[in-house]
Amino acid sequence: MENSLKNYVENLVREKGQITFAEFMDIALYKEGMGYYQKQNPFGQQGSFYTSVNASESFGRTLARSFVYMVDLLGLESQFCEMGAGSGMLANDVLNYIKENNKDFYTNLNYLIIEKSEYLINMQKELIEKEHPGKAKWITFEELNNFNGVFYSNELVDAFPVHRVIRMNDELKELYVKEIEGALRFNPDELSTPELKAFLDKISLNVTETQIVDINLDLKRWIEAMADKINKGVMVTIDYGFEAPMLYQSYRRDGTVTCYYQHRQNNDFFENIGEQDLTAFVDFTSLSLYGSEKGLQPMAFMPQWLYLVQSGILDEIDAAPTDLAKASIKSLIMPEGGFGTNFHAFIQGKGVDVPSDFLYTKSAKEALESMAQKLS
Ligand SMILES: C[S@@+](CC[C@H](N)C(=O)[O-])C[C@H]1O[C@@H](n2cnc3c(N)ncnc32)[C@H](O)[C@@H]1O
Repeated sequence: MENSLKNYVENLVREKGQITFAEFMDIALYKEGMGYYQKQNPFGQQGSFYTSVNASESFGRTLARSFVYMVDLLGLESQFCEMGAGSGMLANDVLNYIKENNKDFYTNLNYLIIEKSEYLINMQKELIEKEHPGKAKWITFEELNNFNGVFYSNELVDAFPVHRVIRMNDELKELYVKEIEGALRFNPDELSTPELKAFLDKISLNVTETQIVDINLDLKRWIEAMADKINKGVMVTIDYGFEAPMLYQSYRRDGTVTCYYQHRQNNDFFENIGEQDLTAFVDFTSLSLYGSEKGLQPMAFMPQWLYLVQSGILDEIDAAPTDLAKASIKSLIMPEGGFGTNFHAFIQGKGVDVPSDFLYTKSAKEALESMAQKLS
């Protein structure tokens, strides 16, 4: 059968002349009933990619420890909000850990989920309602207000649509999706919005000739909105990406947006539309700058391995029943596992004072020493 989402995109492109890559990516991922996240389980073996959540339940269990620690330390309400909850497994792992280890906290805990995909909301409900009936509540982004607690996401921001900007003949152009000689292709044209240039200026990025940068304007809108929505609390954003100077290095001069089709990476953006994932590295500098301007203070930025080690994941390795289970947990913190190097955790806060002994501002040295001991 002809890919109907491809037909949809082709018709739209003909009608409008061209569309931005961000619009294309939003359709490919989220078009109701047809987008990649709207009609099938995108995760794990039957999907196109694994996240840390699929690697081991210890990821969620360790996050749970971290969140409980921050609620207690910073005097927050027992409230978590997860945005972009995927299959629901992460919420389930977090809730399982707290139910097993901290009954009182579990009883008082209010667990909110914000999810864009109707398909995934149903999947999440099926899993979480079975194991934790009545514990989680699904709300829209607009409904989140006056939040007090821990707001978190894993691999949410990399799934926001990005614009593609290129410097050509010393001018910034945007790469649109256009039909050229009967096929969808990139077409350079004027920037669709001055926000793109402002975004680059903010991080003082000098785009070099023919370099492509993927600009996540939704990241800016999201973090600014979050700053208004949080009354008192912390935001933990876990994703792959870097601070701007590292992210926009010349060896990434073709940008970072890419596709995953059945566990294989490719750059055939206009093939398998709606059947493959599209994703781009996260610019943590912009997250920090736009958040700070609105009152979200950066509290700690570290590689995922360090965040997990500081939060106690080594105890999970000790307690794991089999060598295989131990190896899965190690994949979350070892460079060769894939989750160790590119992934970062960023903690931002509002209305909270950061104590001098905050776990996440301690040096990596201690964590490395205890890790070396346990893993040797
Ligand atoms: C790459 S998946 C990660 C899923 C899960 N957190 C994990 O780590 O396995 C991205 C998730 O974010 C959701 N998402 C993307 N944009 C969103 C938005 N604007 N609001 C809510 N959810 C969103 C997707 O539907 C999907 O559930």
